[in-house]
Amino acid sequence: MAGRGKMVRRDAHAKINVFLRVLGARDDGYHELESLVLPVSLADRVSVKLAEGLRVTVRGADELTRAVEAGGLNLALMAALTLAEGSEAPGGADISVEKRIPVAGGLGGGSADAAATLEALNELWDCGLSRGGLADVGARIGSDVPAMLAGEPVLMRGRGDLLEPTPVGGTLWWVLVPFAFGVRSPDAYRWWDEDGGSTGPDPRELLEAAEAGNAEALGLLLFNDLEQPVFRRHPEIEKVRDALLGEGALGALMSGSGSTVAGLSRDQAHAKSLAKGFEGAVVVSGRAQRG
Ligand code: C5P
Repeated sequence: MAGRGKMVRRDAHAKINVFLRVLGARDDGYHELESLVLPVSLADRVSVKLAEGLRVTVRGADELTRAVEAGGLNLALMAALTLAEGSEAPGGADISVEKRIPVAGGLGGGSADAAATLEALNELWDCGLSRGGLADVGARIGSDVPAMLAGEPVLMRGRGDLLEPTPVGGTLWWVLVPFAFGVRSPDAYRWWDEDGGSTGPDPRELLEAAEAGNAEALGLLLFNDLEQPVFRRHPEIEKVRDALLGEGALGALMSGSGSTVAGLSRDQAHAKSLAKGFEGAVVVSGRAQRG
């Protein structure tokens, strides 16, 4: 078998939704969105090599690994199955995922693993799919996968399938505060419906602040329409958001459908000092470009 023994390694980067605007429910069960998706330095490590059968091994902090098993849905495995379905590839691979990104935390960890697996298998199985072709396969795995394949800041619209690269200036430093529990996205969106769903402001000003790398201005403009519905059911998330603001974060919000809260800092030193006050907090930087 060509390429046997060759290993492809990819860093699967987490993301923060700098804003997340829910415009309304769609007929297909999804919601119409608008979001600035910013990849960050925190990453899972995905290693893939050719094998006879298909196998996925997940390693990492015990509680993260358990959560993947409990969820029962491994997006790296789904990526391999979905890619094999539409190609002549024999479909065998050994996929190993080293988890660092909290699971079901709104940081796109599972989607990032799926994106990294797709890229690695496209190479190893010689599928020859273009970026656009990979994004189409990605969209069948999950709404966030195309954005994670982009590997650079994107303005995401539609169900998550309409993407536009968006400049983000300078390096933004964030503190991520994870929780011991995750929030399932279907629940967060359903709660938005049940609560009569409100829609945040036009993001133009926020996008200008992001492009200028103006963290002070950006901090005041962060918003996530899923926050209120999730806060109502999990008030401890709101408490952490408020505590980050109280400690001097420029802005703070829940990422994606939660549970992780992201606090924006002035610089790396500020992020490190903020992180000291929150158990399990991680300092990350935004990634302006692919690579
Ligand atoms: O696409 P994905 O499988 O990640 O979506 C999980 C769930 O999140 C969907 O079944 C839906 O309930 C909700 N969702 C949504 N609108 C989106 C993305 C996700 O309602 N744009």
